[in-house]
Amino acid sequence: MFSQNVASDDAQMFKDYFSKRFPNIELDEYVDGSYVFDEAAKEQWLEIEDFPPYEFDIEHGQELFETPFTNGKTYASCFENNGIGIKQKYPQWDETQKAVITLEYAINQCRESNKEIPLAYGKGDIAQISAYMAFTSRGNIIDIQLSTKESIEAYLQGKKYYFSKRGQLNMACANCHVATANLRLRNEIPGPMLGQVTHWPVYRSKWENTGTIQRRFKGCNTQVRAKALEYQSETYRNLEYFLTYISNGLPINGPSTRK
Ligand code: HEC
Repeated sequence: MFSQNVASDDAQMFKDYFSKRFPNIELDEYVDGSYVFDEAAKEQWLEIEDFPPYEFDIEHGQELFETPFTNGKTYASCFENNGIGIKQKYPQWDETQKAVITLEYAINQCRESNKEIPLAYGKGDIAQISAYMAFTSRGNIIDIQLSTKESIEAYLQGKKYYFSKRGQLNMACANCHVATANLRLRNEIPGPMLGQVTHWPVYRSKWENTGTIQRRFKGCNTQVRAKALEYQSETYRNLEYFLTYISNGLPINGPSTRK
């Protein structure tokens, strides 16, 4: 027997934790990441969002999304609702594959089932297609399902990864994004774990282009001098599943920009 309560209790527990610790921050504000803690940085960010550097990515992503494969089909044929407005349901547990399927992973599975070569992960075309799909999902409420014993196991693995210490600095994701969320590290404030997933893909000024959330996972691994994992490895997919489940109830607001 399994209990879905393990996870739904978790989600509530984290929300309670943050609302107790930061009583002036409303749940929906967590979609702004670390900017909820820094009014000045938030203002600068909102100015950037007036002329968003990811606009081209959305346009190009749409073009790619609508361009037929060699066999004449398009991405729309692989997704519910033709792929429009569905980002809030990813990552999802696939009972046939017994695996967590992220949106980028699904994009590549779509290509492969149509005899196309998979795209490189992290940035470029895949981030642009994902940006377009996120854009059509703006405002939709994240609704990740845990349906079976195995899906809960995947969730728990993701959670374990988030709370395990690693790297030469011996730090867990949670050390920065739960425990010290809002303490300044060098000149950056690690944002809270809640809402970490809502706004991807992201144009980062540091990258000078748009990347996927797993690119950020790699960066945060390297930051503590731990070995980054492969894109779309089982562990990163489970991690993304866990993090997204925790943000159930928050709206999709991607793509976005970050420093
Ligand atoms: C040493 C502290 C530290 C650790 C450990 C760390 N991060 Fe981060 N992380 C940061 C900082 C600082 C930022 C940039 C500010 C921000 O956006 O939260 C960041 C940003 C992020 C973001 C982007 C948030 C956004 O709003 O765009 C994600 C996602 C993320 N981290 C996930 C992780 C994961 C997953 C791990 C564990 C593998 C991890 N982090 C470990 C410090 C850390």
